[in-house]
Amino acid sequence: MKVYLATDHAGIRLADMVKDFLLKRGIEVESFLPQEAKVDYPDYAQKICKCVLNDEGSRGILICGTGIGMSISANRFKGIRAALCTDAYMAKMTRMHNDANVLCLGERLSGFGVVESILEAFLDTEFEGERHLSRIQKIELGGC
Ligand code: RB5
Repeated sequence: MKVYLATDHAGIRLADMVKDFLLKRGIEVESFLPQEAKVDYPDYAQKICKCVLNDEGSRGILICGTGIGMSISANRFKGIRAALCTDAYMAKMTRMHNDANVLCLGERLSGFGVVESILEAFLDTEFEGERHLSRIQKIELGGC
């Protein structure tokens, strides 16, 4: 599974740690890390969502200060199911029930020990399908 990773300026340290963790697990990573002192998180969310939508089976990881801006931005893209997770249970459940394809993290919220457990759960948990499939299809239909 390939992982696309991006952060805004508020998540660079966590993004470096996440990238190292993924590479040590032998996971292919393509990252988009800002060079400027301040950037806009929707621009980085857009990069990752486009990559994930064009590469079946891939996943995305988006980091900002809280993870909230990234999750709001990413969920505007049809076909993206982005989940902001602050613990491993949330990451496990969002894979099992929501088939989340993008994980959002907040550098200002989560220490790296917790993030490691979130990453393990997000990467290793399969979607349960069955009754959850029709719910996801309803999400894809969108609102008014
Ligand atoms: C940047 O200061 C901060 O607003 C951003 O990283 C994020 O937390 C937004 O939701």
